[in-house]
Amino acid sequence: MRNVVFWVLCMGVALVSWRFLIAGVELTMPTVAYHATLRPLAFFTHVGLAPVALALVPFQLWRGLRDRHRAIHRLLGRVYGVAVLLSGLGGLWLALTTTAGPVAAAGFALLAVLWVATTAAGIRSAMAGNLAGHRVWMIRSIALTLAAVTLRLYLPVSMVAGLEFAGAYSAIAWLCWVPNLLIAEFLIGRRSRLAAVQ
Ligand code: HEM
Repeated sequence: MRNVVFWVLCMGVALVSWRFLIAGVELTMPTVAYHATLRPLAFFTHVGLAPVALALVPFQLWRGLRDRHRAIHRLLGRVYGVAVLLSGLGGLWLALTTTAGPVAAAGFALLAVLWVATTAAGIRSAMAGNLAGHRVWMIRSIALTLAAVTLRLYLPVSMVAGLEFAGAYSAIAWLCWVPNLLIAEFLIGRRSRLAAVQ
């Protein structure tokens, strides 16, 4: 059941993110449409490729696929890496130019830098044959990719709770990824403690 929820959240948020392809940015993403006008390269690279990375997460975590079809895992891993690198740079550019205020800008900018850095470290480890390092860095990378999901869960909750939008958005720019990363560190620590006991 948990797996089903995870697949639906990842694929659902990825697919909904491409809504601009059907009805345009002005209509489907009015609050960020100014980015599309002022910096179309950054915007379309980000909203076009970031969902690719998110949609690949459940496939890359799928143990059966990983163990039985190494070549597919490697191929999808390369696509994930390119999608994160390009959309992360686009996301950084959007963060530095957002009109959502300095707190939101800093939250998104740090997320973008860490997203690219953890993914690059994960891919470098895999290429060096360091599978333990690869696993640890990719858990961090995926925790950050999932910020796209947590952000879209927290936003409606903040609205239902009646919170003022600008303040809530600034807080969510941090809350969408800092707890994810802490959970990732907890899982990494637990795994290495278990390995030490065995
Ligand atoms: C993890 C690193 C990410 C960073 C740093 C980041 C950053 C940003 C920023 C700064 C904006 C503009 C917000 C504004 O100015 O108010 C934005 C919008 C957007 N991002 Fe990301 N993003 C990330 C991941 C993702 C992922 C994985 C997806 C995939 C679903 C995604 C999809 C979108 C979409 C669709 C928008 C347009 C607005 C919306 O629909 O909410 N982003 N992003």
